[in-house]
Amino acid sequence: MTEKKMILGLALTSGYGNLSGAWRAPHVDPSNYAKVEANIRYAQAAERGGFAFLFTPDFPAVRGDVELSGIQNIMDPLMELAAISQATTHIGFVATGSTTFQEPFNTARQFKVLDVMSHGRAGWNAVTTSDQLVSANYGRAVAGRDERYQRAHESIQIVEALWGSWERDAWVKDQSAGRFLDGSKLQPINLQGQYVASRGPLAIPPSEQGQPVIFTSGGPSPHLLELAGRYASGFIAEVWSIEEARAQRQLVRNAAKQAGRNPDDIKYFAGLMTTVAPTVREGLDRRIAVSGDVIEARLPHLESLLGVHIDPNRYDEPLTTEQLAAAQASPMDPRSEIVLRVAREGWSPRDVFAHGVIDYHPVTVGPAEVHADHMQAWLEADAVDGFWVSPDIYEDGVDAFVNEVVPELRRRGIFPEEYVGATLRENLGVPDQYGADSRLKSAADTE
Ligand SMILES: Cc1cc2nc3c(=O)[nH]c(=O)nc-3n(C[C@H](O)[C@H](O)[C@H](O)COP(=O)(O)O)c2cc1C
Repeated sequence: MTEKKMILGLALTSGYGNLSGAWRAPHVDPSNYAKVEANIRYAQAAERGGFAFLFTPDFPAVRGDVELSGIQNIMDPLMELAAISQATTHIGFVATGSTTFQEPFNTARQFKVLDVMSHGRAGWNAVTTSDQLVSANYGRAVAGRDERYQRAHESIQIVEALWGSWERDAWVKDQSAGRFLDGSKLQPINLQGQYVASRGPLAIPPSEQGQPVIFTSGGPSPHLLELAGRYASGFIAEVWSIEEARAQRQLVRNAAKQAGRNPDDIKYFAGLMTTVAPTVREGLDRRIAVSGDVIEARLPHLESLLGVHIDPNRYDEPLTTEQLAAAQASPMDPRSEIVLRVAREGWSPRDVFAHGVIDYHPVTVGPAEVHADHMQAWLEADAVDGFWVSPDIYEDGVDAFVNEVVPELRRRGIFPEEYVGATLRENLGVPDQYGADSRLKSAADTE
C-alpha cells in the first residue's frame, strides 16, 4: 500500500454529464443547462466526497451537434461558480479563463473576487484558446502559437502582479483612527507587454489563500510546458495510458524544475470518465440506453482500429477466435490498445464501444473496484497526482461515485479521509504565493 494520496477534481462540462445523451436520460431534468441549482447539487455531492475542486472547461461558442447532444459547456463558469461558492464550504473552483481573448485586468479582477468570495477556494485554468468558433465570437482571427503563448506569458505575469498589488497588510480598517487603507501599499504595477498591459493596482484584498491557484491544460508542446513550468500549480491533462501519463507528468515536473521551482509544486491530473453501476453489464446498458446512437455511429470504426473485417450483422456478438488472433492495435491511435484489450475480454463490438474506448479520456464502467483499480494503478505508477473525474450523468453519477468509489479509495488508503484544509491551495498541497513567484523573477524579467 502506498502512502501517497490522490487529489480529485470533478469536471462540470455541461449541465448533464459526459455522455452526449445525458440530457435525455429519463431521470434528468432537461432544463438543467439553465439551472444553477443543479450544479449546486452536484458541487455539494462532490464536496461530501472530499473532492478538492470543480473544474469547468470553457469554450464560449455554440459548437458541435447541439440539436442532438446539447451544449457541451456550462453557461458561464465564473458566474455559476460564484453562486456555487455561496452554497459550499470546502470544495475549490478551477475555472477556465482564456489568455487569448480576456484582458488580464478582467481576469485578475474576476478570479480574485471569486477567491475572496469563496474564502480562498479559487483557481484559474489559464488556456491559450485557439478554437475558431470562440475566436469568431471575439471578432478576431486565431493567432499563431507564438503570439498566443507570448500573450499568455504577459497575461499571467500581469494577473499575478495585479493580485499582489494590494499588499497583504494594506487594509488598515481602523475605525477610531479613521483610516481605511494604507494607500502606499496599493501601488500601480505599470506592466506593458507586446500584447497586453495594465497600470493597476487592483482594488481587491488578499483571500485566505492569498490569491487564486493557477492551472494550465493541454498537450505537452514545448510552448505549454514552458508556461506550465513557470506558473502552474496544477496541470489538467488528456492522456490514455499509464505510460503516456507518466512520461508527460515527468515533462511537466522537469519544466517546473527548469523554471527554478520545486517539481512537487505542480500537480498533474489525468481525465477519467466514469459510469458507476453494480456490474459492468449494468453499466454498459446504462450507457447504451443514453448514448446508443453515438455508439451505433462508431461501430464501423472498429475495423480500422483493429485491422480486421467485422460483419455489420454481427455487432452484437463477440469477435471470433480468428478475428481476435488477427487483430492488431493501430499504431495511429493510442486508444486502439484499449479497444483490443476490451475486445479480447469477449465483449461484442457494441459493448466494446459502450466501454467508452474511444472517448476523449479513459472510461471506467462498473462497480467501485473497477474505478479504484484504475486509479490506484495510475497513482502507484507515479503517472498522476490525481484525476479530474467526469461522471456519465451528473444527476446520479456524482452521488454514485461519492457513495461507492470514494469509500473504496479510502479503504485502500489512497484518498484522504477528510479535507486537509479550508483553501484550494491547502487541499492541493501547493505552497503559498502572493503576487508573482519570486523564484521566477529573472525569467520573468527577460520576457
Ligand atoms: C483536458 C483539456 C482541457 C482543455 N480545456 C480547454 C478549455 O476549457 N478551453 C479552451 O479554450 N481550451 C482548452 N483546452 C485546450 C488547450 O488548453 C489549448 O488552449 C489548446 O490546446 C491550444 O493550445 P496549443 O496551441 O498549445 O495547442 C483544453 C485542453 C485539454 C487537453
